[in-house]
Amino acid sequence: MSTGEKLQLWGGRFESGPSAIFESFSGSLHFDKRLADCDIRGSQAFARALERAGILTASEREQLVTAFDQMRIDARTPAFYEGANDEDVHTLIIRKLKERVGGLAGKIHTGRSRNEQVSLDTRLWLRETIDESRALVKAFLTELLALARRHQGAVIPGYTHLRRAQPVLWEHYCLAYFEMFARDDERLAQARARVNLCPLGSGALAGSGFPFDREAIAADLGFAGITRNSMDVSGDRDWALDYLYAASTLMLHLSRLSEDWILYSSDEFAWMDLGDGVTSGSSLMPQKKNPDSLELIRGKCGRVFGSLTSLFVTVKGTPMTYNRDMQEDKEPLFIAADQINGSLAMIAEVARTVVLKPAAPAEAAEVSWAVATDVAEALARNGTPFHEAHKLAGRLVLHSLRNGMKPADWTPEKLAAFAPEFTGAMAALMDPAEGMKSRQVPGGTAPERVAEALAEALARMETIGV
Ligand code: ARG
Repeated sequence: MSTGEKLQLWGGRFESGPSAIFESFSGSLHFDKRLADCDIRGSQAFARALERAGILTASEREQLVTAFDQMRIDARTPAFYEGANDEDVHTLIIRKLKERVGGLAGKIHTGRSRNEQVSLDTRLWLRETIDESRALVKAFLTELLALARRHQGAVIPGYTHLRRAQPVLWEHYCLAYFEMFARDDERLAQARARVNLCPLGSGALAGSGFPFDREAIAADLGFAGITRNSMDVSGDRDWALDYLYAASTLMLHLSRLSEDWILYSSDEFAWMDLGDGVTSGSSLMPQKKNPDSLELIRGKCGRVFGSLTSLFVTVKGTPMTYNRDMQEDKEPLFIAADQINGSLAMIAEVARTVVLKPAAPAEAAEVSWAVATDVAEALARNGTPFHEAHKLAGRLVLHSLRNGMKPADWTPEKLAAFAPEFTGAMAALMDPAEGMKSRQVPGGTAPERVAEALAEALARMETIGV
């Protein structure tokens, strides 16, 4: 074959070549070219393994590794891919190698299969991608904690059923999301640990017939260890699914946070402002300031959850081991990674612009009788059985609603006169900031607990993304 001519890694037993329609249907270069750098690095490590196994001389290995070094640089420019119609990125890289080193290129695939190569390349790529995502989670959590501290001490209504439920501190609310995203970071780290094993040496499915030192290859590529079973390597993609699940859950949390802030910044809630830089106007309605950045984060969930579903369905029902179906694993990974990384950068930017208008949520917490639980619990603390206390506090709310009274309208005298179980001192509980002081359990919204939790979260930042 002359240089530049189409290279095929498998044509020998065929009397004629693939049809044009099969070629274009089955080709993956248009998306797996994203793995080019990983493919080249993997091949460099493999060249060193071939030397250790006595298949390449030191000078042959040197020639290959040097050619690959140059190729890594070239592969960063679009010209490298111009006019290429190779079956996949692995074929492209070998063709380019042949153009550069001639017949020696024919030795690089000794004892290696694309089935393990595709697993290797994807693992290398995913390992780096996870590191990027975790750095973005960390950057966002830094902004979230800064936002919590900017409005430290603000009282907001906590919601259940999207109805005002009990007063909580603003930073307690922010820290709830901190916990979710800290677990997302942990899940990404766990997925990384399963990705971070070297499959090289597995061959097509049965293990290589050449005496490769698999541990040495793994160390060369910075893997924590080697995979244990060659059939498992070509047959499974659960490590990719682990990542997609972690990405989906992260996206789910981003979506819920976006939904909150879309609501809180609406005219109906009116207790949060979003910056001009992360909102858009309307081409028709001059007064509009729309939370498009948050809506897009919420909207992009479809692609990420779709990617998880897509790979689940792709792998389901494929017989052991490799099947070409598995080529469909890469696009869902690329889509999910791009969407979570883009969304994380966006939410960090939104968080930087968020301004809480504390008087509004404080009033919302008060007028809605979110303090009713505090009243019922105070009665129970004074010896009234809780069921009775609950009923009495409910009566107080009903009476107030019928008579147009807000909690603040209850003076100690009026309250003591309402029913014998009430004391004048309980009138203090009509301030939403008061009752929360009793929520002293670890994890509760009492100001001391929240201050501790905030300090702890700041300290935990050291362990996030690393
Ligand atoms: N492009 C293929 C993929 O992504 C590479 C492996 C091809 N192996 C094969 N036996 N046809 O899965």
